[in-house]
Amino acid sequence: MNTYEIRIDGHADALVAVQLGGLCLEHQADGTTTFTGPVADQAQLHALLARIRDLGTTLLSVRTMATPSPGVFDRLDWPVHTDRLTLRPARAADADAVWQYRRLESVAQWITELPADPGAFRARFTAPGRLATSLMVERDGSIIGDLMVRVEDGWAQTEVADTARAVHAELGWVFDPTHHGDGYATEAVRELLRLCFTELGLRRITALCFADNEPSWRLMERIGLRRESHTVRDSLHRSGRWLDSLGYALLAEEWNTRA
Ligand SMILES: CC(C)(COP(=O)(O)OP(=O)(O)OC[C@H]1O[C@@H](n2cnc3c(N)ncnc32)[C@H](O)[C@@H]1OP(=O)(O)O)[C@@H](O)C(=O)NCCC(=O)NCCS
Repeated sequence: MNTYEIRIDGHADALVAVQLGGLCLEHQADGTTTFTGPVADQAQLHALLARIRDLGTTLLSVRTMATPSPGVFDRLDWPVHTDRLTLRPARAADADAVWQYRRLESVAQWITELPADPGAFRARFTAPGRLATSLMVERDGSIIGDLMVRVEDGWAQTEVADTARAVHAELGWVFDPTHHGDGYATEAVRELLRLCFTELGLRRITALCFADNEPSWRLMERIGLRRESHTVRDSLHRSGRWLDSLGYALLAEEWNTRA
């Protein structure tokens, strides 16, 4: 079993992901679409590629991804409790609760995708590659937000590439606006950092946001992430505007020192 990323030209609709066996679909800013998820063997991979050919789309690339990404949460004991919150891996049944806040304009304006309806959202949320990287945050038994942990390989020269496999993670967060301003995101992401560094043994975590998304970068700074980049008008917002982006990161040794 390997995790693959298949990239095609143009923005495919959610139905294509369903036709490809529930791979996780993401529209990229460069006008391409990526499908990611576990593929059992070469026969299944060839069948997927044949389906893409039959759809008449242009295949741009196929690559294997860091294998521990799906199932990374299997290495931890769940649920995890903080003072006020419970963190646990996402389940397909969570899709409708998450849609209730992700569909809101005040939330969707900052995040990568805004599916057209609950069905399209459910198809994307329940794709194995997506579920395997999503955590739910609960307060008194209700979902108040979700977190992403996408484990990645570090860049490395070929001879040492094995050592750099699955040692980094990109983090993400989306909280229900009803629960903004109470420190819940801070509490959840602080715990996520602990899980990443102490339980998963990762060496570096990163997070990105639009520079205009002040609540998100303030959260990053509150939990101790270091600003590493400010890129200028590099990211296309669905409003049609090219926006600045901020990149933040934290190394395990920095976290250890602060902890
Ligand atoms: C990014 C996001 C999670 C930040 O939410 P948030 O409510 O600002 O963050 P927290 O839950 O940690 O709350 C922090 C606020 O609560 C206050 N607070 C109250 N009690 C607190 C406590 N016990 N601990 C910490 N902060 C507390 C803080 O002072 C802060 O308020 P301030 O912004 O006025 O200074 C939220 O804006 C969001 O989900 N946005 C939409 C999706 C999004 O943009 N995702 C990121 C894409 S890159």
